[in-house]
Amino acid sequence: VPAPPGKPRRAGVAISQQFAERVAQSPEVWTRASAHEVIRRYAELAPRWDAERGYYRAWPIRDALARGGPWQRGSCVEIGAGTGLITASLSTVWNPVVGVDLSADMVRRNPHAPLVLADAARLPVRNDSAAAVVVGDGPLFAREVVRVLERSGALVWCNALGSGAPNYVRTEVLAAALCAASEGDSWDAVEAEAGWGTWAVLRRTSTTAPPP
Ligand SMILES: C[S@@+](CC[C@H](N)C(=O)[O-])C[C@H]1O[C@@H](n2cnc3c(N)ncnc32)[C@H](O)[C@@H]1O
Repeated sequence: VPAPPGKPRRAGVAISQQFAERVAQSPEVWTRASAHEVIRRYAELAPRWDAERGYYRAWPIRDALARGGPWQRGSCVEIGAGTGLITASLSTVWNPVVGVDLSADMVRRNPHAPLVLADAARLPVRNDSAAAVVVGDGPLFAREVVRVLERSGALVWCNALGSGAPNYVRTEVLAAALCAASEGDSWDAVEAEAGWGTWAVLRRTSTTAPPP
């Protein structure tokens, strides 16, 4: 997917990325204050989110879905679903796609259903119930992802501005976090660039057999 000129630059990216990486590695750094800061920030951004950013945000997920498969059918949990800019793409592969987001201001602008207003640090989702967890510029809570994913499921990670995105986390950090959260199972990843963004798809390669 070509990257046209004019890629936006976001302020304070280095600090945001450090925090995103720390959350992936040590979820205890995420506190109630972190959640309140997200709610405050997206209350400001929500009214202009689609108009200012809608045109490019789905490029990486479309490419990930086209090239990152094969996909296991079933349900999908979309973390940080926001106003739903990538949800329609996800619905071409999975059903249902359950959107989870912390910001009521983003969620009320999201035309898709079902939607859950919740913190992804504690997903209101059953164990082993999702064929995919998709994070489009949201946080990684690795233990929660491992808990809700079916053993053959996939984590799909997208950053619409790639390594310039505030929530960008390197694929090796994602894989290490998933490995640590799944008691040493190893995870394979494929990654690519698409437009201004990047994506990675991570799957377990070896699994410890569950107790009988
Ligand atoms: C950068 S926006 C991306 C929205 C959408 N995925 C898109 O691509 O347009 C990040 C979204 O993640 C949500 N978010 C951030 N932290 C979250 C958390 N801990 N649990 C649930 N949602 C969260 C924010 O409220 C926001 O809607």
